[in-house]
Amino acid sequence: MAKRIIVTGGAGFIGSNIADELIRRGNEVVIIDSLVTGEKKNINPAAKFIKGDVRKPGDIGKCFGKKVDAILHIAGCASTIKSFDDPAADLNTNVLGTINIINAAVKHKVGRILYASSMTAYGVPEKIPVKEDFPTRPIAYYGITKYAGERYIMATGLREDLGFKMNTTAFRMFNVYGRRQSLTNPYQGVVSIFIGNAARGEGIKIFGDGEQSRDYVHISDVADAWAGAIDNPGSFGEVFNLGSGIRVSVNGLVAITLRSFGKDIKKYDVKYFPARPGDQRHMQADISKAKKMLKWAPKMKFEKGLQDVIDWAKELYKGE
Ligand SMILES: NC(=O)c1ccc[n+]([C@@H]2O[C@H](COP(=O)([O-])OP(=O)(O)OC[C@H]3O[C@@H](n4cnc5c(N)ncnc54)[C@H](O)[C@@H]3O)[C@@H](O)[C@H]2O)c1
Repeated sequence: MAKRIIVTGGAGFIGSNIADELIRRGNEVVIIDSLVTGEKKNINPAAKFIKGDVRKPGDIGKCFGKKVDAILHIAGCASTIKSFDDPAADLNTNVLGTINIINAAVKHKVGRILYASSMTAYGVPEKIPVKEDFPTRPIAYYGITKYAGERYIMATGLREDLGFKMNTTAFRMFNVYGRRQSLTNPYQGVVSIFIGNAARGEGIKIFGDGEQSRDYVHISDVADAWAGAIDNPGSFGEVFNLGSGIRVSVNGLVAITLRSFGKDIKKYDVKYFPARPGDQRHMQADISKAKKMLKWAPKMKFEKGLQDVIDWAKELYKGE
């Protein structure tokens, strides 16, 4: 049945793609976004847009009028590096912002919240692939605030004093990539950073030896998981890894990217710099829980998904 759903951060990369998927499935969507990194052009014209800040309860209040069925809390400070540069800003957006969303949900009796958590919650895992019940010991300030937000959401789902049941779900997303991820913001996803560099003919900077690896999951698969979980009681009270289950090294990613642009890696300006604080060495998701309980599985093959972002980037830089 069509629902009225609030998507926080719906002008950003992940939020806007999920909002599109919800609208495609016939839902009514209200987007709240401060546009600090999100862009107006990403906002689906069928959505109601409120320019607002989740750090300000008054702004969140503007999203309510008619009954709201669910909140997808995706707005956040999405950068590990920025979290070290300005920990208070990261804390305010990711933790206080989440508490404000919870307070609004309680006030307006919203029975469903889904939260954008992160693989950074795991810190340095003892082994990979990581399962949801592995220890959570974030090593980046960003990982601490995303995990704190996750715990606030999940703990609210256990509260019996609310007078109604709030069903909560959190997705620990791995490296999400796809169209609309910023090609110019050096703090965002590494796939888009490298594709932006290659599209503009700029040098590529690798932090560390490049042998660190990540689990890249395409935005279409992420949007499918979120949209499918809203009505799925199997996801209530649960935390899920969202990854592809496959690991690719940063050096491997650079090689595939340059090859797709028809550039010779041996002649290309690729430089190595010291590893940055909070960088995890190897990450890979065990996605068996999501497969079993959400009946979800990633469909997009990495090389195909990457090519799609490259096609998009080439289109954007055409004629420049
Ligand atoms: N990209 C990934 O691989 C990844 C992985 C795990 C978790 N996440 C989480 O997913 C969410 C979305 O990330 P993204 O990659 O789409 O980044 P993004 O920067 O494109 O999206 C974040 C959105 O939140 C908005 N926002 C930021 N602060 C706000 C505030 N105070 N009030 C209202 N809106 C605000 C931004 O304008 C932007 O539109 C973030 O919470 C991030 O922590 C991302």
